[in-house]
Amino acid sequence: MKLLVTGGAGFIGSNFIHYWLKNHPDDKIVNLDKLTYAGHMESLKNLEGNPNYQFIKGDICDEEVVKKAMQGIDIIVHFAAESHVDRSVVDPLIFVKTNVLGTAVLLNAALGAKVKKFHHVSTDEVYGDLDVNDPPFNPDTPYDPRTPYSASKAGSDHLVRAYFKTYGLPITISNCANNYGFYQDPEKLIPRFITNLLDGEKVPLMGKGENIREWLHVLDHARAIELILEKGTLGETYLIQGEERGNLEVTMKILDVLGLGEDRIEYVEHRLGHDFRYANNGSELEALGFKRTYNFDESLEEVVRWYQENKDWWKPLKKGRPVLDREVQKGYGG
Ligand code: NAD
Ligand code: DAU
Repeated sequence: MKLLVTGGAGFIGSNFIHYWLKNHPDDKIVNLDKLTYAGHMESLKNLEGNPNYQFIKGDICDEEVVKKAMQGIDIIVHFAAESHVDRSVVDPLIFVKTNVLGTAVLLNAALGAKVKKFHHVSTDEVYGDLDVNDPPFNPDTPYDPRTPYSASKAGSDHLVRAYFKTYGLPITISNCANNYGFYQDPEKLIPRFITNLLDGEKVPLMGKGENIREWLHVLDHARAIELILEKGTLGETYLIQGEERGNLEVTMKILDVLGLGEDRIEYVEHRLGHDFRYANNGSELEALGFKRTYNFDESLEEVVRWYQENKDWWKPLKKGRPVLDREVQKGYGG
């Protein structure tokens, strides 16, 4: 099998590539990535010289590049996106371009290349947000995106389904909970807080830390996608569930692992449009045989240790990068 992975230099894409090549040693992977601020070649360093791995630097919005990258491809796993909610509050248009137009360009090329499968990696945020006692999202929950990020991902999901219905393109979609693990960019909650603390700084916790997320280990996400590729029904949507935790609880756990106290928390204003809670009903995926293998509390400790031991990976990423806290509280042009 030959796979085209888009966005393979990002957090989930790079973990997926490592996972896939380890578990499918006869397969070949082409990684198409624009290397935005979020693409890190260092995450794939040990694949240099691997005959089953090829890297193409290119933009998914560029039709020529995409057509070329798709030659001889059996399966597409589409991760490439602008992925950070805070950035979408400050600079929404690049989200529309990459996430909506980029996905459409890939879908068009996939039709032309007659690929066997197109798997689209999406997010639970397309369903909006939940109150504490609301039942979790399921594949029939109406879409209700509330940020430019989630609206652009919703747009991409609709396009993927439209290519199935109109042209019969063999697609599947997964809408996943928050991921954590190695090689996550230090802009997101868990790596930002760990690296701030390792740098002797405080952690900016929004509100009182009352917002709730589900957390899934990135390698469980890779396994879930593998299962969907192997056993999923074409045209179907699979929600991927994680373990539910409040942000304050996650923060306290990180502080605890590092032996630090609550005085390192700085409570800050919410980001605009801050969704309160996401939760997923993963029964369609469980029916395919999926079970999480990572326990959040144990593996979060391992993740903290990884950032402690891999400062060479994350230190250069934080250096000189503007902090967006004020902008995400005030909004575009604020
Ligand atoms: P990321 O920001 O870490 O990586 C995105 C990658 O895409 C980067 O390597 C970047 O260079 C590349 N990219 C961006 N624009 C591109 C373009 N125009 N052309 C080619 N490459 C481009 O993102 P992530 O956290 O790894 O997320 C991957 C996917 O999973 C996204 O589609 C995201 O919406 C989805 N998702 C993420 C999470 C999460 O918790 N991180 C949860 C659910 C779903
Ligand atoms: O649910 C899946 C989504 O999870 C993915 O689609 C997104 O790509 C991914 O970024 C993530 O979105 P979130 O907005 O939930 O993740 P983030 O790490 O940015 O924030 C998690 C929670 O922590 C959220 O309630 C906001 C809060 N937070 C975040 C940061 C970065 C803080 O309190 N302080 C911070 O500095």
